Amino acid sequence: MALQRPKGTQDHLPDGSPKLSSEISSSAFRHVTQTARTVLERAGASFIATPIFEESELVTRGVGGSTDIVRKEMFKVFYAGDHGGFVMRPEGTAGIVRAYIQNGLKQLPAPLKLWTHGPMFRAENVQKGRLRQFHQVDYEVIGSADALVDAEAIWLMVEVVRELGLSGVQVKLGSIGDPSDRETYNAYLKELFTPHAERLSDDSKDRLTRNPMRILDSKSATDQGIIAELNVRPMLDFLGEEAAAHFAQVRAYLDAWGVAYEVDPSIVRGLDYYRRTAWELHHQNIGAKSALGGGGRYDGLAAELGGPDTPGIGWAFGIERILIALEAEGIQIPTSAGPVIYIAALDAEYVPLAAKAALSLRASMRAEFGYKHQKPGNAFREGERRGATYTALIGSDEAATGTLAVKHLGTGEQSAVKLEELAEFLTTDS
Ligand code: HAM
Repeated sequence: MALQRPKGTQDHLPDGSPKLSSEISSSAFRHVTQTARTVLERAGASFIATPIFEESELVTRGVGGSTDIVRKEMFKVFYAGDHGGFVMRPEGTAGIVRAYIQNGLKQLPAPLKLWTHGPMFRAENVQKGRLRQFHQVDYEVIGSADALVDAEAIWLMVEVVRELGLSGVQVKLGSIGDPSDRETYNAYLKELFTPHAERLSDDSKDRLTRNPMRILDSKSATDQGIIAELNVRPMLDFLGEEAAAHFAQVRAYLDAWGVAYEVDPSIVRGLDYYRRTAWELHHQNIGAKSALGGGGRYDGLAAELGGPDTPGIGWAFGIERILIALEAEGIQIPTSAGPVIYIAALDAEYVPLAAKAALSLRASMRAEFGYKHQKPGNAFREGERRGATYTALIGSDEAATGTLAVKHLGTGEQSAVKLEELAEFLTTDS
């Protein structure tokens, strides 16, 4: 059997490919990244790209040793038989903050807005919308602790999905407080869960000692049953004065701008670097357990990675999940445009001439040619198959007069156009 791609990955394929239903349309994917780019760059964000593998320690310290991502889902990198101490990145934030510190980006105007998109890797149980290689659009703002930055980040995330045409989205907003608030909350959770430890899943028994808050994030139905039964008080009840004031300020900005959100007191997020504002973007068709995107503030992360104390906030959404949501809402994604013109030779000796005509147009438009000579009917069909606006033929008459027989495939109108006037004809006609 021919070799297959690894489980939990997808190929990105051109329009018209037969297996697009199980794979990704590369033009739909690009539509999402370009829409994000337009919205984010209008807000002043610059593009950044970091390696897709990083030191394990960056991820362990950044994302957190008690998270499922670090404990169970890391793809480790081996080379020449040795473990290189590297992992495929499970997310983008830790790498971007590392790059910020390592490259002295503090010298750029603050707060610095950065965005990226690219593949992320988590060895998860594969299901619809849950992949092992997935792709995120990621936005980060580094260098400000102002609640205005939080509100703007949330606004931007909503703006990207609005610009994509999605309507069934909902922002679930919470706060996970400052580290001292979390300590208090963890102490409360430890006391609450310890008498029930025997019934918890093995993972959650472990969480109880390492980071009890992670129990709330458990994917086990038994754990979730116990959580419901114990009537666990939410993190939001444990916010200290400063974190509570910050949260109120973020909400006030969102209210003033008319951004719809729902306060979700139980939001915990699956990564350890968060502080204060945390939120998720949900969609009716993705299911309650999986978010379209999520984000939050991570003021302690830069220091955790060995850099100067620098506040930051950001979000990421999963491009594959966005594509599922777009399809569920029946939103037509523009496919990539075909060539303006397809040029075919009627005899083998004119193929180089057809090629030359196409090459001369490429400074200003997409132009293709036939590598073999064709009969007129076949040439027109080929032009149509490629989505061309025009198809042009070169036979002995055209070669003799230095012209092409150009047909508009939509209207059927035909014209003899001189080779040197072709570019102008194609840009001014219609
Ligand atoms: P996250 O919530 O782990 O946050 O992931 C963000 C989004 O990536 C999810 O909401 C989901 O759409 C997508 N995603 C995550 N795992 C998978 C998967 N296995 N398959 C498909 N899609 C997936 C972060 O990664 C943070 N770095 C976000 C952030 C940026 N926070 C601050 N700045």
